[in-house]
Amino acid sequence: MIYDPVNRMKEDFKLRGICMSSKDNLKAAFTGESMANRTYLAFAKKADEEGYHQIAKLFRAAAAAETVHAFNHFQRMGGIGTTMDNLKDAISGETYEFTKMYPEFVEEAKKEGDKRALWSFEVANKVERIHAALYEKALNEIGQNEEVDYHVCSVCGYTMEGEPHEKCPICGAAPSKFDKID
Ligand SMILES: [Fe+2]
Ligand SMILES: [Fe+2]
Repeated sequence: MIYDPVNRMKEDFKLRGICMSSKDNLKAAFTGESMANRTYLAFAKKADEEGYHQIAKLFRAAAAAETVHAFNHFQRMGGIGTTMDNLKDAISGETYEFTKMYPEFVEEAKKEGDKRALWSFEVANKVERIHAALYEKALNEIGQNEEVDYHVCSVCGYTMEGEPHEKCPICGAAPSKFDKID
């Protein structure tokens, strides 16, 4: 695991005289391992672009292992409920993101004039709203969910049911930029 916010969190707790339990440590480690997974996948992509295919493979192997660790921690901290519980959890997470977290981040990025961050926050904000709606629909139809394919825009994360025939409504990317999700 690398780049973990875990040690910073532990340091902060220590300074404030709070003792972290194993449950807290599981949460912190889950965060760190999850970040390490995405970090290594991003590094693997870069290594492939630079022609270092063996190193890309190593990054992907370590990323897969970090996922195993993250799942172990998540399961042991009681993070996984029934699918109905999990959908409700997912809806509240997405809703928090598009109603509170991203709107605040967007405003701050505007104030700072950080256009690159602003784009990243704005597209994520729009997509999280769509995720919440898709989860709501899935929850309402649980047990009778229609069989559909999902496609995700590789530029902005826009998530849709069915086939992409037109450019991405959020970022304008061509349909060829969409990945089908199995
Ligand atoms: Fe989302
Ligand atoms: Fe997009």
